[in-house]
Amino acid sequence: MDRHLSLSQAARLIGVKRGDIQKKIQENKLTVMEGTVVLSDLKKAFPEAAYEDNTMMEKMEKFMQDAVHKMAQSEREGAHLDALSRRLVKINKELADEKNRADHMEVLIDGMKQKFIELKVNVSHENTFNEIKTWFNTAVRNLEEEKLTTPVENLENQIKQFMQPHVRLLPSRHDYISDKSETLLESALRSGLAVDYGCNNGKCGKCKARLLSGQVEKTRHQDYVFSESEKSQGYILTCSNTAITDITLETEEAVCCDDIPLQTIVAKVKKSVQVNDNVIVLTLKTPRSQRLRFLAGQHIELACNYHQQSDILQQEQPIVAEYSIASCPCEPANLEFHIPVNKNEAFANAIKDDLKNIDSLTLKGPHGSFVLDEDSPNSLIFAAWDTGFAPMKSLIEHALSLEKADTIHLYWMTTKVENHYMDNLCRSWNDALDNFTYTRIMCEAKTDVVVESLMDHIHNEHSHLMNFDLYIAAPGHLNHLLKPFLISHGVKSQNMHFESTFHGDEISD
Ligand code: FES
Repeated sequence: MDRHLSLSQAARLIGVKRGDIQKKIQENKLTVMEGTVVLSDLKKAFPEAAYEDNTMMEKMEKFMQDAVHKMAQSEREGAHLDALSRRLVKINKELADEKNRADHMEVLIDGMKQKFIELKVNVSHENTFNEIKTWFNTAVRNLEEEKLTTPVENLENQIKQFMQPHVRLLPSRHDYISDKSETLLESALRSGLAVDYGCNNGKCGKCKARLLSGQVEKTRHQDYVFSESEKSQGYILTCSNTAITDITLETEEAVCCDDIPLQTIVAKVKKSVQVNDNVIVLTLKTPRSQRLRFLAGQHIELACNYHQQSDILQQEQPIVAEYSIASCPCEPANLEFHIPVNKNEAFANAIKDDLKNIDSLTLKGPHGSFVLDEDSPNSLIFAAWDTGFAPMKSLIEHALSLEKADTIHLYWMTTKVENHYMDNLCRSWNDALDNFTYTRIMCEAKTDVVVESLMDHIHNEHSHLMNFDLYIAAPGHLNHLLKPFLISHGVKSQNMHFESTFHGDEISD
């Protein structure tokens, strides 16, 4: 029986990016039906993946056949969970057998090593003996290096991933993998989906969704009471359930800024670290029952609330400022901000010098429309000046969790090397992701120098820009100047997105 796989499942099974599969579909080398591909078609479209790991693929198919067979059988018998347990026991036994075999091989190799040491060799055979000994020692060394990623461990990991239930959302047709240790809501947020929710603890009912197929399991008590009509239509709370089989849910997602309500949330300071002379990275923790809903790239107003006993409480003017959120919406519990401290700004000074007097911060927002165009099939270029990196980080992390873009290129411009305050993070993206490139640019903070420098780099590295979406966060006047340059390089107006940064290193004319 041929297996239908969602694009995420297919990508995980053969170890390629979702974008690679989409590319094959666009090139008509792979057929997609209702958002799924057939396993046999996938093997034809990616013959190398199937060839390299043929054993694993065959085992997978067998598991799937067994699983489908057993699931159909168990559904008839009404013993679905028993079948899943049997499937797990079978896989575990196979893994244990493989590990046993590996242990025996190790004993054998140790024995051979000992024999080589003990063997007395006739002088006339010494050269041959030494040759065999050298070959053996090299082979053992290679084997030990490979041991870090044994086929058994790979198989184990891939099976684990493949066995996680898949969730399909309608009408958006987005899909994601539901980790059984998380609620449906947590897994959706971690996958970068802007699903609706409120309290995150079963009270408000905002996360309700209609279960169209599959089975879920309640993970916590819920106070919200469904009407009889909602019950009969199969509504569930995504914050209080996890999936135990592949499921389909009907639910609304935010696709534009207007879909996100303005919120007021009081958050605590989790961490404040001055990462260089000019920037503090501030992390705020939101209450579990009140997470901030926002889209990657948006900004929010922050106001300091001082401890009751603090003298600063007497101030009439609250200390307020607006900053881009630097973290991904998939991490709603911890919000990150990059606060420039080279300015004579009250908020930055309060965070730098008066943090011990600050009890909490009130967040109001989110605001702004500098968000990812998720419908665009284009590759992505991000360009940031100084702390304009903050919204870029949020957008990039969101784009990565969606596994959407074929290629992502980040240009980060500052006046000096130490101002790339998250250089290590950008390099780690560059090293770990084959579709991600990071270019660090240092130049004088003069408008014409910055424009020329950025355009030179982009022009040298991308012959044309027609299939790119560009996201640029820099002082407003610079954005204004960059626009005609980008148009002359083939970028369409609708594919340019600008954010005016108010803080950070100034750029003079
Ligand atoms: S988010 Fe409030 S009930 Fe689920």
